Amino acid sequence: MEPLLSLRDVRAGYGETQVLDGVSLDVHEGETVALIGRNGVGKTTTLRSILGAITPTAGTITYDGEDITELDPVKTVKLGVGLVPEERRVFPGLSVEENLRLGSYGGSDTENRRSVEEVLDTFENLSRRRESRGVDLSGGEQQMLSVGRALVAGADLLMLDEPTEGLAPLIVDRVAELIEEINDEGITVLLVEQNVSVTLELADRVYILDKGQVVYEGTPAELDEDESVLDRYLGVSV
Ligand SMILES: Nc1ncnc2c1ncn2[C@@H]1O[C@H](COP(=O)(O)OP(=O)(O)OP(=O)(O)O)[C@@H](O)[C@H]1O
Ligand SMILES: [Mg+2]
Repeated sequence: MEPLLSLRDVRAGYGETQVLDGVSLDVHEGETVALIGRNGVGKTTTLRSILGAITPTAGTITYDGEDITELDPVKTVKLGVGLVPEERRVFPGLSVEENLRLGSYGGSDTENRRSVEEVLDTFENLSRRRESRGVDLSGGEQQMLSVGRALVAGADLLMLDEPTEGLAPLIVDRVAELIEEINDEGITVLLVEQNVSVTLELADRVYILDKGQVVYEGTPAELDEDESVLDRYLGVSV
């Protein structure tokens, strides 16, 4: 089967600075694929290239059989690619419900779109706080709101950039469960993470990025058997 998303030898960067030095990876429909690596190796840049926020200088990106290498973010989102960015971007002065409703402007043409009410039904903790303003939410609640808004915008492929960063351990578990639920409902997930245990728990396959290149690809079970890999590229042992 053709991969849903495919990157081939993608090079990209900022001005004169090349960050991605020929990244190739595949994400199949229904998978949860994790992209991990140290700070500054190009994980966010990879997601930005897929979304079209930056245009690769070489290589190709295909989504659902279509070449999206040069597509801008509005068009990429319309095809059903969603991004929950690192900075979350919750609007502080708007309520939970208003923040969610923003997801319904623009967005995608996919059938995977959720209504604000459907998202509130899934995220009970947000439902309880539907009138609260963004500024009054905890980090975990903001993260869930940001994920919820992407679901309202509609995504067949949801890309999450370090969704558990800075969250308390209990909340990390809740966010991990949520990602699992979303994937179970048929949404393909591309997950950038620094939290190795969350990665190994959620991912079907893992890519490790180092200095703008994929240096390892394997299943969590394969990674478990070869602990030196994590040590070498992430400086962690599990
Ligand atoms: N807007 C930008 N302009 C110039 N350089 C940038 C920009 N954004 C990122 N970079 C540089 O590109 C490199 C890769 O950054 P990127 O954000 O992709 O890394 P990352 O793997 O997501 O790291 P982190 O784990 O810290 O989020 C870094 O050296 C970074 O300083
Ligand atoms: Mg990043």
